[in-house]
Amino acid sequence: MSAAKENVITVSNLDLWYGAFQALISVNMAVEKQKITALIGPSGCGKSTLLRVLNRMNDLIPGVKITGEVLLEGRNIYAPGVDVCALRANVGMVFQRPNPFPLSVWDNVAFGLKVAGQNSRAQVEEIVERSLRGAWLWDNVKDKLDHSALELPLDQQQRLCVARLLAVEPEVILMDEPCSALDPIATAKIEELMLELVKQYTIVIVTHNMQQAARISNYSGYMLLGEMIEFDETSRIFTSPKDKRTDDYISGRYG
Ligand SMILES: Nc1ncnc2c1ncn2[C@@H]1O[C@H](COP(=O)(O)OP(=O)(O)O)[C@@H](O)[C@H]1O
Ligand SMILES: [Mg+2]
Repeated sequence: MSAAKENVITVSNLDLWYGAFQALISVNMAVEKQKITALIGPSGCGKSTLLRVLNRMNDLIPGVKITGEVLLEGRNIYAPGVDVCALRANVGMVFQRPNPFPLSVWDNVAFGLKVAGQNSRAQVEEIVERSLRGAWLWDNVKDKLDHSALELPLDQQQRLCVARLLAVEPEVILMDEPCSALDPIATAKIEELMLELVKQYTIVIVTHNMQQAARISNYSGYMLLGEMIEFDETSRIFTSPKDKRTDDYISGRYG
């Protein structure tokens, strides 16, 4: 038992509906600072929906209704007047398919800085290089910063998406099955990168790959049909789950 856990995000009694369909049912979860939290469970159980709740990405979907509370550093991100752009810079997301902008490598990383009004060239240069190094991409791209990001191999595109987030100094990085389009070698590299990033950032990852959750995460939440069935330290979820449904899933009897 660690003495002083510091939670960056606390989700309480969270319900979410897409129109008449309830996709999240009274979900509770705490995300500890500078740890990797994995959301696992069968397809359609609400993992991506819950991840999107954490930076209000569901706001973009018409007909979504949310009740309950999501605190980021003690402040309700759904309170009136919250700056959603600032929230999404602070809680950035990496998607299943790498989605760099159809711009140069450089402009992808500098994009958020420009939006934020940073126009010191020297500052931007420093931050772009630092972000690319932080995503383990600098050596791959330093000679082609002006090339289109779309020319990069998929795994480098995914690390570019990480670099794009790092440039605006997030606190939390959300990753929705970030390796599902990648081969095993590229996957291993992203996993290693996550273990490096978590020294500085807090990470929440959705994965359908239970070995991945077991390898890299500190905490795991098992979801089923919109409910958080069990949330605990990953070692416990995978060795002695309390709920029979978790046990059935991790032992391969279901899902
Ligand atoms: N934009 C949407 N509109 C309506 N229903 C949705 C939408 N996105 C997801 N759903 C439904 O919500 C449930 C949870 O989906 P999702 O969060 O994508 O699950 P997972 O990521 O675990 O596969 C599923 O039943 C899915 O069909
Ligand atoms: Mg999903």
